[in-house]
Amino acid sequence: MIIAIDGPAASGKGTLAKRVAAHFGLPWLDTGLLYRAVARDVLKAGKRLEDAEAAAAAAQNLGPESLDDPKLRGNGIGDAASVVGKIPEVRAALLKLQQDFAAQPGGAVLDGRDIGTVICPNADVKIFVTASPEIRAKRRFLERTARGEAITYESILEEIRRRDERDMGRAAAPMRPAADAFLLDTTNLDIEAAFNTAVGEITRKVGQRGRP
Ligand code: CDP
Repeated sequence: MIIAIDGPAASGKGTLAKRVAAHFGLPWLDTGLLYRAVARDVLKAGKRLEDAEAAAAAAQNLGPESLDDPKLRGNGIGDAASVVGKIPEVRAALLKLQQDFAAQPGGAVLDGRDIGTVICPNADVKIFVTASPEIRAKRRFLERTARGEAITYESILEEIRRRDERDMGRAAAPMRPAADAFLLDTTNLDIEAAFNTAVGEITRKVGQRGRP
């Protein structure tokens, strides 16, 4: 069973994907980490994020060990990731890795922006998670201040809006719900309620096959 979970920054898709994967006993890939790692490696090589050649090379050289870096979730990398994510050569270089992950026996859960539309158009279940920009900014603000970052709510809201625009507006695999995706608005849902709704939808779609 392949479960595709897409949605904008801080919509709760990562937390949801992790819990859904644990519930159904499936491996989980947070595909945002791939784009974050590419951005990190381009900057480490002293290149510009817009440098398509450098970014494509970084994407081709990405190994599983390069995702094991707590700094990938930190400060500014999400924004940088959305810059390299616009480059078609980067997306092409990361395609096979993601599709191979999804093709594991038994299936997998992948979360990102284009899983239901481009990476796994035949996924058994597609969920598109949304929430208002203000609620998403509030969640990210709490998450990052808890990690000790000195940051304002306004700057996070601005980053979220900028990233939404970039992710939806790009020509290569823009973020959008697949036609057959289940829309899950978490603006007024806590993690537990979002999880229960998602499990309900998955179970409805795949029936007993979805049970662990
Ligand atoms: O956790 P958050 O939603 O803030 O970010 P993320 O999922 O780690 O993604 C970071 C950035 O990578 C996004 O803003 C996208 O531009 C890009 N990305 C993408 O283009 N396609 C994906 N499948 C996943 C992430």
